Amino acid sequence: MPSLFEPLSIGDLILRNRIGLSPMCQYSAVEGVPNEWHQAHLGRFAAAGLGVIFTEATHVTRAGRITPGCLGLWTDEQVEGLARILRFIRSVDPEVKLGIQLAHSGRKGSADVPWKGGKPLKEDSAWETVAPSALPHDEGWPTPRALDAGELPGILDAFVASAKRALAAGFEMVELHGAHGYLIHTFLSPVSNRRTDAYGGTREKRMRFPLEVASAVRKVLPKDKAFGVRLSGQDYLDGGMTVDDTVALARELKGIGVDFLDISGGGISPSKLKVKVGPGYQVPSAERVKAEIGLPTFTVGMILDGRQADEIVRTGKADAVLVGRGHLREPFWVWRAAEALGAKHYCPPQYLRAGESPGDIVPRETLAKRA
Ligand SMILES: Cc1cc2nc3c(=O)[nH]c(=O)nc-3n(C[C@H](O)[C@H](O)[C@H](O)COP(=O)(O)O)c2cc1C
Repeated sequence: MPSLFEPLSIGDLILRNRIGLSPMCQYSAVEGVPNEWHQAHLGRFAAAGLGVIFTEATHVTRAGRITPGCLGLWTDEQVEGLARILRFIRSVDPEVKLGIQLAHSGRKGSADVPWKGGKPLKEDSAWETVAPSALPHDEGWPTPRALDAGELPGILDAFVASAKRALAAGFEMVELHGAHGYLIHTFLSPVSNRRTDAYGGTREKRMRFPLEVASAVRKVLPKDKAFGVRLSGQDYLDGGMTVDDTVALARELKGIGVDFLDISGGGISPSKLKVKVGPGYQVPSAERVKAEIGLPTFTVGMILDGRQADEIVRTGKADAVLVGRGHLREPFWVWRAAEALGAKHYCPPQYLRAGESPGDIVPRETLAKRA
């Protein structure tokens, strides 16, 4: 079997293959509650036979949203909306693992949805943003309020409360969003964290709040749920986070019981990045973290087809791939990857006749017998 289609153990969970849907904001919620769009969008992947489906960044407070359309988990109503979608996906594919990404937008919050420009909201609809230091994300962005150390436990509690709600909704994997310039990343990066108290200065102090959050969330998740963190492996900027910083953080995360790492990159600043963006350009960061830490490690970013993905996994650069935009273009990305690699993949019985074209499709019953 091609490496990409081998099962992967993460904590107590087994992913049926090494392909996941990367978290992708849909900016379509109302007051953080998912609706028909989310049902249709995530539902598109129910028949795809993925190893894991991650929902988009789901925010732990109302003010911690990126845009007014972002999903949230700060109320019980939001739990039921997500639970309904998970029930649907499981009714089609009981094996796929369902993951949520918990996030706080920090200084990149209070923005308009991308198709309305993605710029900071105007005064009548804007809200106050917060960050470790009063440094705006970019020119034209509001200056966030620097968080007082006394406010940090409140944010930590919001992450914990959302993690509990994620369990109630039925998720079995929880990922903290520690990448792309949002709140947790802004604590980690020297570009955005200029604090002089216990939460800034040295690398250890910059890691302190992210580690406190991760540790508190880990404590409320039962052992049979997998817990991970998405990190920007590098800021790709002079004076920014380096892969050495990420390795140091990943070592601490492993120590507090994190089950997997998801290594992305960039996002701390819109300045011109020192990286050549192209197929698999973030794989080297994941490779380094995997080699040094040894936890199951996802890579993401321009993984374009099954052969490329299989090479990454087969050569041990990462344990699994997450695919974002490729899945928006083609929800059956997995089927095409299987076809290219001559692998079998899951297919709900209703779609079996699609197997009359090339590709080797295996219905759920057969997979169950094999297990
Ligand atoms: C529409 C869209 C929304 C995204 N939202 C999120 C998000 O909620 N959380 C996150 O960590 N990354 C988010 N990303 C980044 C993707 O998860 C992924 O890391 C990135 O698109 C690179 O992978 P790709 O080349 O396969 O698309 C988003 C990307 C897109 C295109």
